[in-house]
Amino acid sequence: SQDERGSSVMNYKQWLAGQLAGQLEGVAEESIAELVEYPPNPQMGDLSLPCFKLSKQLRKAPQAIAEELKSKWSGNDAVARVDAVSGYFNVYLNPAKFASDVLSEVLEKGERYGSQETGQGKNIVIDYSSPNIAKTFHIGHLRSTVIGNALYNIFQFMGYNSVGINHLGDWGTQFGKLIVAYKLWGEQSKVEAEGIDELQRLYVKFHDEADAKPEMEDEARAWFVKLEQGDAEAEKLWRWFVEISLKEFHKMYDLLGVKFDSYAGESFYNDKMAAILDELKAKQLLEEDEGALLVRLDDYNMPPALMVKKDGGTLYHTRDVTAAIYRKNTYDFEKAIYVTDAGQSLHFQQWFKVIELMGYDWAKQLQHVPFGKVSLEGAKLSTRKGNVIHLEELLAKAIEKTREIIEEKNPNMENKDEVARKVGVGAIIFNDLSNNRIKDIVFSWEEALNFEGETGPYVQYTHARACSVLRKAGDGADKPDASAIDAAQLTNAEAQGVVRELYLFKERVEQAMLKLEPSIVSRYLVDLAQSFNRFYHECPILVDDPGVRSARLALVQSVRVTLKNGLRLIGLDAPEKI
Ligand code: ARG
Repeated sequence: SQDERGSSVMNYKQWLAGQLAGQLEGVAEESIAELVEYPPNPQMGDLSLPCFKLSKQLRKAPQAIAEELKSKWSGNDAVARVDAVSGYFNVYLNPAKFASDVLSEVLEKGERYGSQETGQGKNIVIDYSSPNIAKTFHIGHLRSTVIGNALYNIFQFMGYNSVGINHLGDWGTQFGKLIVAYKLWGEQSKVEAEGIDELQRLYVKFHDEADAKPEMEDEARAWFVKLEQGDAEAEKLWRWFVEISLKEFHKMYDLLGVKFDSYAGESFYNDKMAAILDELKAKQLLEEDEGALLVRLDDYNMPPALMVKKDGGTLYHTRDVTAAIYRKNTYDFEKAIYVTDAGQSLHFQQWFKVIELMGYDWAKQLQHVPFGKVSLEGAKLSTRKGNVIHLEELLAKAIEKTREIIEEKNPNMENKDEVARKVGVGAIIFNDLSNNRIKDIVFSWEEALNFEGETGPYVQYTHARACSVLRKAGDGADKPDASAIDAAQLTNAEAQGVVRELYLFKERVEQAMLKLEPSIVSRYLVDLAQSFNRFYHECPILVDDPGVRSARLALVQSVRVTLKNGLRLIGLDAPEKI
């Protein structure tokens, strides 16, 4: 039946394990499934069971196991042949059935293709972007935004309920500094006209002057303590800084197409920290040290987590501990994820430990998702000195450059501005996700915008190419009837290459979730696009033979659906014309 086919054959690893479990005494089906591989080269089969790890348990040589599996293999319509080579049991799928099974699933599921119900609606809290008020939204925050947004979509696609939190850096001593600086040198009209840039300048000026006048630091600390205690003047200024900053952040989020479920930033926890400090005290975790309060972590080879400064001010740690407890109580999360640069790893390890020491066993559900640095043409990303890359400028430049490319490639296109925006912004997002997140990246315009490279524009362009073929094919080509396809027309190497990639989508999404690594999806999309382009160049699609034509069109439609689903997951639009 349709159902059996959907569940058994669309997970070939599982399916093969089921077929083999009876032959391998004492080996659990699950552990066989974990061993099954996709050989890198189709000459070695579509699926392969390496028998090396089974050798000890079964007291047989790997090749003997493989041969036994081969001799006991009973025919199956999903499989063309099997083989035993150098300790591997190799399975060659029946290419027509493989194509027909995969295409049926893609076409039937459509925009849900690749999704699963693993999460059963459980909450996953994702803390991402989280820029600092009154400071430039920099390229590191962009990376957090892009990775966090992709994880948000991926978890949602896997059946979880994602909760996106923008933990705004809207609290801390820096606001004391900013208030002092504004009161000394600020002008309301200038701040209104120039926004974060001007606030940033005031902040930098504070640091420049305070080097010579350390008493300014005390004054700043005093202002922050006033703010924490609800002083009217301090609060009014602070609110204004927040408002001005948010306006600019929203421009960025709108361009990127990113949304949050909550903007509860650090200030949100101001009135919730006292209770947590009491709890820490009651649990005898707080120690006084020269007037400050801290949690010692010597036993775990970490410096202490500072909770209260000697002037009474709270810290980043205090707010993160408080926020985590609040989030656990509010969302009862299955997992809480924090996406920041790797430079903050120690901070997270420290306060995760504090949560554990408080006796909360859910400490193990907290997870830091670190990422590497981004540099652009050698520029520094520090906000402290003010020499920062302006993200708004970066995005504007990407859009402008894309617009030029489009003008060259396709001067008659409609909606050039809209497409340039989708592709230009997509190029930046994709570039951030094109390597393992922990790797540092050097941003290069040529690379990011290369329509032939391993880029967002390349994948989007391939998607548009598939759309264009379907448009030319005419009515109904985008709604093929999977059951009417003559899958025997899809058994050549190029078509099978595409089918194999289509099949892998679901597994790749799942891996991306398990490893918290959206780059698995972006790299997958490049693979799928490349295999499709090979097919496109080798196999004419709009041919006279109706059987060949409709089978190939169904493959094109399946690619279109899968590229679009994947692009959406990592936060890119998929325009139909480029
Ligand atoms: N505002 C911080 C920064 O810009 C990032 C906050 C990350 N989230 C958290 N819960 N600590 O570096």
